[in-house]
Amino acid sequence: MKAKERLIVALDVDTKEEVEFLVNELKDDIGMFKVGLQLYTSMGNEIISYIKSRGGKIFLDLKLHDIPNTVSETVRVLTKQGVDMMNVHSQGGFEMMRLAKETSLKTAAELGIEAPQLIAVTILTSLGDEEVEKIGYNKSSKEMVEHLGVLTKEAGLDGVVCSPLEAGIIKDACGDKFITVTPGVRPLGEDVGDQKRITTPKKAIEGGSTYIVVGRPITKAENVKVAAKKIVAEMENL
Ligand code: C5P
Repeated sequence: MKAKERLIVALDVDTKEEVEFLVNELKDDIGMFKVGLQLYTSMGNEIISYIKSRGGKIFLDLKLHDIPNTVSETVRVLTKQGVDMMNVHSQGGFEMMRLAKETSLKTAAELGIEAPQLIAVTILTSLGDEEVEKIGYNKSSKEMVEHLGVLTKEAGLDGVVCSPLEAGIIKDACGDKFITVTPGVRPLGEDVGDQKRITTPKKAIEGGSTYIVVGRPITKAENVKVAAKKIVAEMENL
């Protein structure tokens, strides 16, 4: 896998002008654009067709969490729209994840397109041990991440979203082919902003991240293209 394919840029903006600028500047230098709730609720499916029309790939980060039928029907619609990667919440349960994956494979086969990578959120990295205990789980957040990672794999999904500091735990428990998508990455010497448990692009890949998600260090940079290339170079120099 080429280093640039590992870079997913979070498009955390909500105007068409900002999106158009970022997509056109970055599409040749990165692997995928992450579209989250902010942008999706602002632009709807237009954002998917726009990025695709420019030749970009899309990770739709909606963290679906509902009953199996509702999630799998939503996954069917999004597969048809040609999303390249999307996610559900593993806490929606084994059957929800299993059915979502089965539906996306079936839909893609019917259309003769490549099935999207379907991944799951384990424990949000914003939740520490104290919060995990408050919710009522009797395991630490790390143990929960491992437990839910294994459940996700057993349900047939392709990987998880996790902290770069947890990617090694997931690879050990689920194997090398199981993908890890990790936000909380900051290039060397960069402002960390509100991210707490962070690491650098190089350390993330060395620690077991398959893809890294980077937002503001690229989207708020003076020159977004240069910022993206610098991160790819950091990953190349392993
Ligand atoms: O700007 P920054 O690089 O911090 O953006 C990281 C992106 O990854 C944001 O879209 C954020 O919502 C997302 N994310 C995160 N931590 C998680 C899950 C998602 O930062 N645990």
